Amino acid sequence: MGSERRTFLELLALYLFIQFSVTTANYFEPFNVTYDHRALIIDGKRRMLISAGIHYPRATPQMWPDLIAKAKEGGADVVDSYTFWNGHEPVRGQYNFEGRFDLVKFVRLVGDSGLYFLLRIGPYVCAEWNFGGFPVWLRDIPGIEFRTDNEPFKSEMQRYVTKIVDLLREEKLLSWQGGPIILLQIENEYGNMESSYGQRGKDYVKWAANMALGLRAGVPWVMCKQTDAPGEIIDTCNDYYCDGYKPNSPNKPTIWTENWDGWYTSWGGRWPHRPTEDLAFAVARFFQRGGSLMNYYMYFGGTNFGRTSGGPFYITSYDYDAPIDEYGLRSEPKWGHMKDLHAAIRLCEHALVAADSPQYIKLGPQQEAHVYWVNSSLSENQSTCSAFLANIDEHKAATVNFRGSSYSLPPWSVSILPDCRNTAFNTAKVGAQTSVKLIENALSPKRSMPELVMSKTEVSSFSESWMSVNEPIGIWSANNFTFQGMLEHLNVTKDESDYLWHMTRIYVSDEDIAFWEENQASPTIIIDSMRDVLRVFINGKLAGSVDGHWVKVVQPVQFPQGYSDLILLSQTVGLQNYGAFLEKDGAGFKGQIKLTGFKNGDIDLSKASWTYQVGLKGEVQKIFTIEENEKARWTELKPDAAPSIFTWYKAYFDAPEGTEPVALDLGSMGKGQAWVNGHHIGRYWNLVAPKDGCPQTCDYRGAYHSEKCMTNCGKPTQSWYHVPRSWLQASNNLLVIFEETGGNPFDISVKSRVSGILCAQVSESHYPPLRQWLNPDVIDGKVSIKDMGPEIHLQCEDGHIISSIEFASYGTPRGGCQNFSQGNCHSPNSLSVVSKACVGRNSCFVEVSNSGFQGDPCRRVVKTLAIQARCVSSSTVGVSQF
Ligand code: GAL
Repeated sequence: MGSERRTFLELLALYLFIQFSVTTANYFEPFNVTYDHRALIIDGKRRMLISAGIHYPRATPQMWPDLIAKAKEGGADVVDSYTFWNGHEPVRGQYNFEGRFDLVKFVRLVGDSGLYFLLRIGPYVCAEWNFGGFPVWLRDIPGIEFRTDNEPFKSEMQRYVTKIVDLLREEKLLSWQGGPIILLQIENEYGNMESSYGQRGKDYVKWAANMALGLRAGVPWVMCKQTDAPGEIIDTCNDYYCDGYKPNSPNKPTIWTENWDGWYTSWGGRWPHRPTEDLAFAVARFFQRGGSLMNYYMYFGGTNFGRTSGGPFYITSYDYDAPIDEYGLRSEPKWGHMKDLHAAIRLCEHALVAADSPQYIKLGPQQEAHVYWVNSSLSENQSTCSAFLANIDEHKAATVNFRGSSYSLPPWSVSILPDCRNTAFNTAKVGAQTSVKLIENALSPKRSMPELVMSKTEVSSFSESWMSVNEPIGIWSANNFTFQGMLEHLNVTKDESDYLWHMTRIYVSDEDIAFWEENQASPTIIIDSMRDVLRVFINGKLAGSVDGHWVKVVQPVQFPQGYSDLILLSQTVGLQNYGAFLEKDGAGFKGQIKLTGFKNGDIDLSKASWTYQVGLKGEVQKIFTIEENEKARWTELKPDAAPSIFTWYKAYFDAPEGTEPVALDLGSMGKGQAWVNGHHIGRYWNLVAPKDGCPQTCDYRGAYHSEKCMTNCGKPTQSWYHVPRSWLQASNNLLVIFEETGGNPFDISVKSRVSGILCAQVSESHYPPLRQWLNPDVIDGKVSIKDMGPEIHLQCEDGHIISSIEFASYGTPRGGCQNFSQGNCHSPNSLSVVSKACVGRNSCFVEVSNSGFQGDPCRRVVKTLAIQARCVSSSTVGVSQF
């Protein structure tokens, strides 16, 4: 008994010790952050830092822990985010730090996981976010001019920034309080706008800097794209490449606040992709040439839920081609290749921070080395070093000689040699797996999705019936007002809705009708300038639609004799988020509005009497919520009903089983907004991308720009919409859709997204795996690399295991993911070796060597191992994961 008890107590003590050490390891002791010309100095030590951009409101709090864990596993040291003023202060003086806007919770989660935080307060942030983050009420402050030396603006900006810094301090989130925040940003890329504001712009920069410093936050501040960042404020670089960036003082470190690893897209646009090899090249070059902190914009882009997307015309997805996709899944090979890169850079960190500057060695016309010595005062054979060898030739590989050895460098690549001898990583050699996402149907698929493979599961989960109710066209409530003249859109809507109805009455005489018949003409509405969408209705019937960004409208219309209601519905699709003088940009119409072609001349509609109505009836009545949806007079929709415009639809659906992310396929709909259980999942619009402009293959070599590697030509820009799991219950989820242009709700389906297929291909000439560096034999303080062959690492998403190997060939396999075939050389053991190592596991390693495959299948041939594996949820095969 006694011994049993002791064992129990011992176990308890061990458990508590583990718990305690795990928890304490995740909290910081208070530490200071300073900097010198080389790096940030954290707790007295220079650090090389990798940062992962994750905007907290573009995910749900339930997604945050996993995103942060994936950033950490991917090798990040820091998480970065902007703050979003219009989310935090939707009404002046009424703050919101709840739900997706729970900044404190997000920063804490990051700190709890042992990562640092870079908080870019802004408050102007750009970010493809509605109005660049500014609350729309800011326009209404008398005398305000944004982002310049203007007292009303400065006072509002100071109030918000102070509020945020006070919050950070109260919650002990700053480094010297033991919190994770090591760096803050004021403003955002003001350098791009400064010249538009003349001297007042320059004064504003100084004011912003002093205001920020005056808040005594106790950590350094940065200003990005601000070459005149004053005093202690560090000017940082935002670009596709930032190697060679020199801050404006020799005492400031080189920091890259935005490494654009992809790009955003617009409705009707193609999808930009930044090649993984080029992204790795850019990062390696940055650290090679003296950079010290790099942030991926974005590491996870996420979703513009609700009406948060900026614009005009930015889509709801903010996937960004980031290493973690919109749904929170790893996007491979980007995530894995960057992880390997980060590990290689980490192996060099001791040398990178030890050297004040690298030794530069020209290796060839377009080849160069930068060597970082740990202790350059010692002789070469006593001192250790790390080196980066670059080949910036966009076309050709090069063989270079470095310290007596020969290295072959693919074009546009960097090799990283943590010990100045062995290559741990080359940016152009992707050993990481590729993953193909499967979309599992919870309802029969009616269309196929590019780059996604449909699985065969078909489980109907939508309620049999759809209900619908029409949205009235025009003035629908007593809550309208009449005004002589045309008002500016945002002045009326305050951006509480995308929609602003304008109604006026037009009289058409017999003479007008005769005049039109005689001349075979019709009247025309002319608007000097309009954004984003205009719909014209005459007597309740749609007469025309126009969309564009400050475009001229010339819309022929027809009127019957007598009085007609002319309705102009002006709509926004994301407020402007970039440019100078944002407060003046507004929305709706600008200039003259007239009706031409009448017998007695033009009618000046700018001076007409207009009745205004903000928003949709269903929107204002909140018929998309569980509580209020019964308020509308829903009627059952017949499956053969013709598509109808300005219609609300509702149906109930069951969540797909499992824990995988969920998407709604709205490809059968036109344009509108959708809500699930009252949560606004965003705007949708079924606009198709141009047919051309997507290359067959994407060449990673040479400088990237957002037009370079586009996909999705000729297809709708977005038809899948993320519905976060936490917004769903198992069954009876209420889906409400507002449809403007007509669609078929019966074809809407709900699906779950999983990484279904993994592929990888590594040659025996690839360098040995990085993991052997991480667990090296250390002899006399020097790293010795074991003679290990390269390997393939496969990893399914959490909760998933490899169920089968669909292809494996060690030899000279041909083709690529999903069309591999055996070549002339093939080891007969391929499938059995790979299956033995991988099937039934979440992750596995397979060595790419003759010994791994029990013999050489063909001599004097460089062999490659290609694998295609399938992942399934571990619950479906009844295997529990530990
Ligand atoms: C930058 C800006 C970011 C984002 C990015 C494009 O210029 O600072 O907020 O808008 O461009 O995605």
